[in-house]
Amino acid sequence: MDEKGRRELILQNILTRTSDRMFDPTKVVGEDDLQTLLQAAMAAPTAVNRQPWQFVVVTNRQLLDQLAAALPYCHMADQATAAIVVCGDKNRFLEGEDDVLWVQDCSAASENILLASHALGLGSVWTCVYPHTDRMASVSGILQLPEDFVPFNVIPIGYVSKAHTPINKWNPAAITYRT
Ligand SMILES: Cc1cc2nc3c(=O)[nH]c(=O)nc-3n(C[C@H](O)[C@H](O)[C@H](O)COP(=O)(O)O)c2cc1C
Repeated sequence: MDEKGRRELILQNILTRTSDRMFDPTKVVGEDDLQTLLQAAMAAPTAVNRQPWQFVVVTNRQLLDQLAAALPYCHMADQATAAIVVCGDKNRFLEGEDDVLWVQDCSAASENILLASHALGLGSVWTCVYPHTDRMASVSGILQLPEDFVPFNVIPIGYVSKAHTPINKWNPAAITYRT
């Protein structure tokens, strides 16, 4: 493939990513793919290159079902065969006013997981945990996370059973130019 084709493929991966919520529970996400998703996550930019994160990989059926039952908008975890729980690592948070930047760092890592899933032919969806204290407590309890892990989101991952067309969000009204 030439350089132009390569660029086009990468852009198409971004433009066609969508949140998938219907998975085939019989098709298991492979370990190699999970490893690739974690590599993509850790390739994200972070403030001062602090990498203030921990990634919890969940493939246990009972734990996935418990997450689905406990979180209000994560029902699809009961069909997913894996989930990555992106967590902030309190030991690596910045100080002072910058102590909130871990949220942006974990967001960048999360988007990388979504894009890499799509590139691998997998479906995924970001489900919200932080800043809801009840959801954070549920995730910490179910997964028995150490005190230092701040659950940020749960990203169920699986082979899509029912694909849908990505939403077209192109909106010129959301752009301001200063030329
Ligand atoms: C911060 C954040 C929280 C989200 N929380 C949930 C959630 O709890 N459950 C869910 O099904 N989708 C969740 N989503 C996915 C959004 O609903 C989805 O990205 C949005 O509707 C646009 O659709 P698209 O991802 O297919 O483009 C979340 C996305 C973000 C960025």
